[in-house]
Amino acid sequence: MASSKNFCESTKCLFVVLIAVAAAVATICVVTLTDETLREKKAVNPQPWWQTSIVYQIYPRSFQDSDGDGTGDLEGIKDRLGYVSDLGVGAVWLSPFFVSPMRDFGYDVQNYTDVDPLFGTLDDFKHLMEEAKQKNIKIILDFVPNHTSNESYWFYMSERGDWHYRDYYVWNDGTNCSTGCKDTGGRRPPNNWLSVFGGSAWKWSGIRQKFYYHAFLDSQPDLNLRNQAVQDELKEVLKFWLRQEVDGFRADALKFMFESENVTQNELGLKDSFAWYEDDDHNLTTNFPEIYGILKDWRSVLDDFGKDKFLIAESYGISNEIRNEYYESGAVPFNFALIQYLNDSCNAMCMKTVINDSLSGLKENYWPNFVIGNHDNSRVANRFGPETIDAFNMLLLTLPGTPTTYYGEAIGMRDTMYSYSETKDPAGLQFNETLYLEHTRDPERSPMQWDDSPNAGFTNGTPWLRVNSNYKIINVKRENRTKNSHLDIYKQLAKIRQNSAFTDKYVKFLNISDIDENPSKILSYIRTRPGSDKYLVVINFGHRYANDVDLSEGAGSSKGEVVVNAMSSYKVNTEIDLKHITLSRGQGLVIKVK
Ligand code: GLC
Ligand code: MG
Repeated sequence: MASSKNFCESTKCLFVVLIAVAAAVATICVVTLTDETLREKKAVNPQPWWQTSIVYQIYPRSFQDSDGDGTGDLEGIKDRLGYVSDLGVGAVWLSPFFVSPMRDFGYDVQNYTDVDPLFGTLDDFKHLMEEAKQKNIKIILDFVPNHTSNESYWFYMSERGDWHYRDYYVWNDGTNCSTGCKDTGGRRPPNNWLSVFGGSAWKWSGIRQKFYYHAFLDSQPDLNLRNQAVQDELKEVLKFWLRQEVDGFRADALKFMFESENVTQNELGLKDSFAWYEDDDHNLTTNFPEIYGILKDWRSVLDDFGKDKFLIAESYGISNEIRNEYYESGAVPFNFALIQYLNDSCNAMCMKTVINDSLSGLKENYWPNFVIGNHDNSRVANRFGPETIDAFNMLLLTLPGTPTTYYGEAIGMRDTMYSYSETKDPAGLQFNETLYLEHTRDPERSPMQWDDSPNAGFTNGTPWLRVNSNYKIINVKRENRTKNSHLDIYKQLAKIRQNSAFTDKYVKFLNISDIDENPSKILSYIRTRPGSDKYLVVINFGHRYANDVDLSEGAGSSKGEVVVNAMSSYKVNTEIDLKHITLSRGQGLVIKVK
């Protein structure tokens, strides 16, 4: 028998070996190439998670209590992540749970890098992160850089004039005052600047014998962001949580981060000090361009931990110019247009304008977003009427960009009315019994309604805010079992939203005047992108029904299939004639165009 050695000494063997080697090399090349081409392809159009996920805001106090103390906590949230994931949500934003005396329910941070005992421990947070990872849910934390609690270590040291901390806050001697300034060391505030929550923004410190500036409560002194040491401290806070592998931050109250250095100037045209802060122009205390430098710094801190970390900024009433600066600095500014510019008398034409305005002028790399509610604003059911709940969820989840849903909105929770004596929100309690309702944010913070057991399954104890008495009807358990409940429709919308037709940043509105003789009712638009299906969204936001509307021209077809139906009598999975659509107020359809 010829040994293999002998065999391979022949020319034939050499030939075979050469061919084999060549084949192997070729295979390796092809495999590598395909792999690379695939990778390249992915790289051309990679959408980060924050562009394709729904963001779900949880107000920890009100979501789920696990220990019976009547206040929601981290363990409670962890136990409810199953619900969040069933909703079809990909990211959760947690309002603050850090150590705090809770004057502004956590937006007055005493220690940024620990969990308040009311909400649990750092270990609880770690468990929450693990559970979220397992469920593929990203976690976004609230970051409060404008102010701390007056009970923080930094403020304690600053108030006592410690050399390192003395400039951590915005201190001022004020001006001479001859009468009525007994309690303020014979001084008066340097100017007329106002706090968002009412009254002067300056508070006298008997210890430091100076005034300090506070854009919000006097228990929330503003940090001096012009001090590099303060900026560094804040970056350390970001790093601390990034090391815990959080996926991003929602940055609070950014426009207040800087004030004019010239404190001798008054803001002009301010109404009396307890009037409406929002009505006035605060050009000396808001929107300073120094904000952008800080955002860029934060962006680079985040980037060090991964390119897909998300930074979204609270940004009420900013111009498009400022909005663009936020984007340029690496943050997505929350788009509050649906909260600020819609009201009950805003018809479809007006809605189209509001939406278009917030999308217009967005550069290629500026990603849009829409928000319909949060912990500072009345719920959708109360702003527009309960009959519009599904319509607004439909709008939010089918518009381009990242949608943010506030807890409870998926089941159509309502504001809860609290008497003055029940009121907990400091923004309400700053005012008297007649005015507090205009300012209190308790109504939209009532406990989550899970089921029809006492306190809606939120707590075994006494809830920190009374549960809405409608909880036997409006709750997760019941809506989970009910076909076409708000929850059911929300889930259907979240699901259809995953279709690639909904994941780019463009929307084409159907020309409203073409739609029907009474153009004020129907809002209708197309979502599609090259290579994907074409969807037509049609919602009646008018106050009466719209009869026999012809959408065929705008849709480019006269036939479609209903894929989501909100409240109307059309049936899902059935064909619909796009020439004759009839919808009442609050009814809406997502239609796959054929
Ligand atoms: C933001 C928060 C609000 C808080 C305020 C002060 O506006 O959303 O709830 O009261 O900042 O931190
Ligand atoms: Mg608790």
